Amino acid sequence: MEITLHSPLDMHLHVRQDAMLDLVAPLTAQHFAGAVIMPNLLPPVDTVERLHWYTSEVRRATSGYAFEPFMTLFFRDYSHEELLAARDHIIGIKLYPAGATTNSDAGVREVLAMDHVFGMMQELGIPLLVHGETHGFVMDREAEFCEVYRELATRYPRLRITMEHITTAKAVSLLDEFENLRATVTPHHLIITLDDVAGGLLNPHLFCKPIAKRPEDRQALLEASLKAHPKLMLGSDSAPHPRHAKEAPGCAAGVFTAPIILPMLAELFVRHGAEQNLQAFVSDNARRLYGVNPPATTVRLANDPMQIPASYGQVVPMWAGRSLSWSVKEVTC
Ligand code: DOR
Ligand code: ZN
Repeated sequence: MEITLHSPLDMHLHVRQDAMLDLVAPLTAQHFAGAVIMPNLLPPVDTVERLHWYTSEVRRATSGYAFEPFMTLFFRDYSHEELLAARDHIIGIKLYPAGATTNSDAGVREVLAMDHVFGMMQELGIPLLVHGETHGFVMDREAEFCEVYRELATRYPRLRITMEHITTAKAVSLLDEFENLRATVTPHHLIITLDDVAGGLLNPHLFCKPIAKRPEDRQALLEASLKAHPKLMLGSDSAPHPRHAKEAPGCAAGVFTAPIILPMLAELFVRHGAEQNLQAFVSDNARRLYGVNPPATTVRLANDPMQIPASYGQVVPMWAGRSLSWSVKEVTC
């Protein structure tokens, strides 16, 4: 059996900088026609100058591939002038609550106090991408943040808001309540629950923010993804950290999936008899919701097994050493 995908897009991706960028960006560009590039570097990508520098870095690291990086700025109190200067070079602005995750110390302390920026973004047509977690109990953070999503969606009905990497049934249900909310979901949150992270021996390579939740949450995410809910998009949140930062006390948050996303999803969608919806989930929904036009590529997958490497350089992927029943056979452009 084979599956052919056209211009797959990863709508939430971390590629870092320097040697890590050179290692991981090609692992996405070899399969994907484009990706939304997260701005949480140290320091963050929060000036137009830094945006131009980072764009050229990502392009350099992916040259040779038919790949379009869709860049983001790190949310802060921008002026109208800054937003205007950035608008044509970004797909959106990513908001992190301060301290919510990796490299987010420069994030926002009081989200709903940033009204003036949201108002300008709405007028300028700049989408808002959100890491939606409060500082509450770790399992409840996203559910608590749903109140913030409601408030933002109501106050700014023309602001396009992406709930990034949703992990709860509650967030899934918001998609049908508010016209201007859409979401990304990661492959790992369709497959694992908190049990896989911490129910047996602790698995640092499955530790991420937001943390994987309960079986009923996974079920809601899976059902919405398998039917390619029109407001849901693949966003892997593939987030590389060197092995020493993961296999350590104070384990860094992030699951690295970039090279195995499409085989994982093919296996999952075929197992549930939903392979006819994979194209919409990995590309068409994102193209429609963001109005992007990525390079035309074709990815052929077959149910020939692949062995997941123990590591890519210093980075250990999800399910290192295990095998998947699907693999990428050919990419043409
Ligand atoms: O687990 C995560 N890792 N979640 C995020 O939101 C950020 C990411 C990272 O940058 O490592
Ligand atoms: Zn992320």
